Amino acid sequence: MKRKEFVGSVCPAVVVVMMSAPLIYSCSREDNDPVEVPLIKYNVLISAGEGGSVSTVGGEFNHGSEISVTAVPQGEYIFKEWSDGNTSATRTINVSSNITLTANFEKKKYPLTLNIEGEGEVLEEIINTGRTTDYDSGTTIKLTAIPVNGWIFQDWKGAIESSESTTQVTISEPLEITANFIVDDTVGENNENPLSEEESRYQEVKALIESDGYFYDNKLLYIDLSNENYKSLEEISAFVNDMENGILILRRDQENYMAFDNCCPHLGTRNQWTYSNNRFRCNNHGNSFGTGEGFTSFCSSNSTSGNLKQFHVHIYKDMLTVDFN
Ligand code: FES
Repeated sequence: MKRKEFVGSVCPAVVVVMMSAPLIYSCSREDNDPVEVPLIKYNVLISAGEGGSVSTVGGEFNHGSEISVTAVPQGEYIFKEWSDGNTSATRTINVSSNITLTANFEKKKYPLTLNIEGEGEVLEEIINTGRTTDYDSGTTIKLTAIPVNGWIFQDWKGAIESSESTTQVTISEPLEITANFIVDDTVGENNENPLSEEESRYQEVKALIESDGYFYDNKLLYIDLSNENYKSLEEISAFVNDMENGILILRRDQENYMAFDNCCPHLGTRNQWTYSNNRFRCNNHGNSFGTGEGFTSFCSSNSTSGNLKQFHVHIYKDMLTVDFN
């Protein structure tokens, strides 16, 4: 600290607050010239998160400066908030310290309204990104129209015009879609069942499946993929270790599922599987096994290589059938 004597005429003391300790200046009689006050400078760093930009990235500013900055969203994003919680896209910053700020953006959300005409239901499967109350902009959804017994699917109306019972829609604005079902005229007067054998079986089994999401009958395991227990299979490359039924169910790609014995060919562990690059790895001892058709290693056979035992599967609508024969 540096101090000079002040006697007599007006010469106010100046106290400058530095980041750590104050400096005190005063004047002496022969020192009536303006006192030189050192400028304090601070660094201001402003950045933008994914989905937008900022009108200034900041820089070095004097103590007391005011900076105006605007967060500018791009494309299908909206401004959410600054990293300090401020929610004004345009704001003024009073510089009194070093400042680091980030503008955060989020995807716009849009509602998808589904209507039904006739009798049936619509299965919604998200193919990418997620859903909160509304869908994030850019989300692709697979829609499957499923008529009840005695009705057939006719077509989609509204934002989609198609007669395919399975279709896809990408959300980039609010959408309203109607699934149109009509009475199946092929149902005879005596209400004999004209449905295909597969459709009949589907409807019969669907009615038997309870909250656990599966039904086992005569070495056939029927799995309702719309059940919560199997919901994770909406994602490509996701798998479910179904401990109750002793199988690993893999969503191989958009159309295909696979099922394997979940008993490790090494020493029989069932509950330590992870999956990547088309292989399942048992984390008990770190051995991994293929998902192909070649050499099959069987449950607890002390094998440390080969492919897992695979079961035939069949998919119909939202029903996966695993054949243990
Ligand atoms: S029991 Fe699976 S790797 Fe050993």
